[in-house]
Amino acid sequence: MTDRATIRFVLDGEIIKVCDVDPTRTVLQFLREDLCRNGTKEGCAEGDCGACTVVVAELNRSRDAVQVRAINSCIQFLPTLDGKELITVESLADGETLHPVQQAMVEHHGSQCGFCTPGFIMSMYAMYETSSNPGRQEIDDALAGNLCRCTGYRPIILAATEMYSLPASPSGDRSANLEKLQRKESLRIEHNGRRFFAPSDTDEFAALFAEFPEATILAGGTDVGLWVTKQHRELATVIYTGRVSELCEQQVTDTHIDIGAAVSLTDSVSVIVQHYPGLDEMFRRFASPPIRNAGTLGGNVANGSPIGDSMAALMVVDTSLLLRCGAVEREISLGDFYHDYMVNDLQPGEFIARIRIPLPTDDAIVRSQKWSKRFDQDISAVCTAYRLVVNNGKVISFRMACAGLAATVRRAGKTEAAINDQPWTSETIENACQMLAEDFAPISDMRASADIRLRACQNLLRRFFAETGSDDLETVYTYGRQR
Ligand SMILES: Cc1cc2nc3c(=O)[nH]c(=O)nc-3n(C[C@H](O)[C@H](O)[C@H](O)COP(=O)(O)OP(=O)(O)OC[C@H]3O[C@@H](n4cnc5c(N)ncnc54)[C@H](O)[C@@H]3O)c2cc1C
Ligand code: FES
Ligand code: FES
Repeated sequence: MTDRATIRFVLDGEIIKVCDVDPTRTVLQFLREDLCRNGTKEGCAEGDCGACTVVVAELNRSRDAVQVRAINSCIQFLPTLDGKELITVESLADGETLHPVQQAMVEHHGSQCGFCTPGFIMSMYAMYETSSNPGRQEIDDALAGNLCRCTGYRPIILAATEMYSLPASPSGDRSANLEKLQRKESLRIEHNGRRFFAPSDTDEFAALFAEFPEATILAGGTDVGLWVTKQHRELATVIYTGRVSELCEQQVTDTHIDIGAAVSLTDSVSVIVQHYPGLDEMFRRFASPPIRNAGTLGGNVANGSPIGDSMAALMVVDTSLLLRCGAVEREISLGDFYHDYMVNDLQPGEFIARIRIPLPTDDAIVRSQKWSKRFDQDISAVCTAYRLVVNNGKVISFRMACAGLAATVRRAGKTEAAINDQPWTSETIENACQMLAEDFAPISDMRASADIRLRACQNLLRRFFAETGSDDLETVYTYGRQR
């Protein structure tokens, strides 16, 4: 077996080599069934409960620092570990000496069952390695992807606060081993008629996708992983974006935030929110840190779920997508990208290369609201986004887009028309709320009935007005920029 077909990663300081393996075998299956390393648990097998949380360390793009992040091993395919270090709950203790994260859990009675605890430990460990003095909000966010069914959060949160006061545990130099694993050539696995390609540049990626247009593109796998673990789909050919350097880069130009399709949500969102602070809450409530660490903005947009969270916000600020097929590139507005339920404008062999988000203008307020049954780690029933420019109390420009109300995420054309050029008053908003019922005919499902979805959306619009309807525009704009 050549190096090109061998998955190589670090575990407990050793380089592990795996060949001749089903490329859709998950990291969790490999740990529990192949290595009999059973500390990492399986709860839901769909990224929801956090029992399977592990930590992955990898060199950053410029190879001058190591990035440490928690992910859900139950939906992560094994070949995506190539070139990285895997850290599991068994990796933490130094002989008989517990890691401060574990010691704090013992001292504060944070562990009640053995099922969720390893996952909590690993989310806390990722925070321990990346943050030195987190506040309550940061701790809550770090644990948002770990569910405890016995309401045991208080001692866990206390342990997460107190772990920093215990004697520090050295994490050692990870970069030397990681350097050894970096490869220039692509990873290509064939196993029982299944193929997995991890190309390293866009030309190779485009050529492979042109050769295998029926292949599944894999980015973070937070949608695709579930096709395998929950729908038991067999993926014959998978092409992974995660090693394609151009797709993993993002930059801010004079006019745009330009995000490669394989940049993680964690990284892309931090740049987007710097420029659009009004999107902070929606992105903070987008799944959980492990999902955002693996998942990408490109995957969210390409998947095109009608209840996806990012698209409404991206639409109101006029985002476009740079698509590529072979050597041919074209740009399309996100507003024109979706045709119908899970049908988009991508042609066979074509993929999303970059996402181009215009930089904000000073006069516009941009905000997004997420409405779901649970605050953290829940899929939206309705998600809305707005872009508003008001001058002397009159609306100069208003855009609104909604998820959860139609077969695709889309703009609310009649509602926008009812607000544009009108005074920014509650009367205008009440008229516009009637128009929302003309723009959308939502369906009922387990998340909400059609009636509730519509009423929730009308109330979200009223809330947006309540937050921005002040006569003191200076206050409104300052608020818009700060939130
Ligand atoms: C527990 C859990 C919670 C979640 N919560 C939320 C949430 O709150 N809000 C939300 O919106 N979503 C949520 N999701 C869905 C998912 O996390 C997002 O859609 C995520 O952005 C998908 O990105 P990915 O990189 O993992 O995509 P993948 O799973 O790798 O791919 C998704 C789809 O996009 C295609 N694709 C990927 N990259 C490209 C490309 N460059 N060109 C063309 N096609 C491409 C794939 O072929 C596939 O069809 C959740 C998922 C889980 C498991
Ligand atoms: S097993 Fe539940 S998140 Fe992985
Ligand atoms: S302590 Fe494990 S589920 Fe609550």
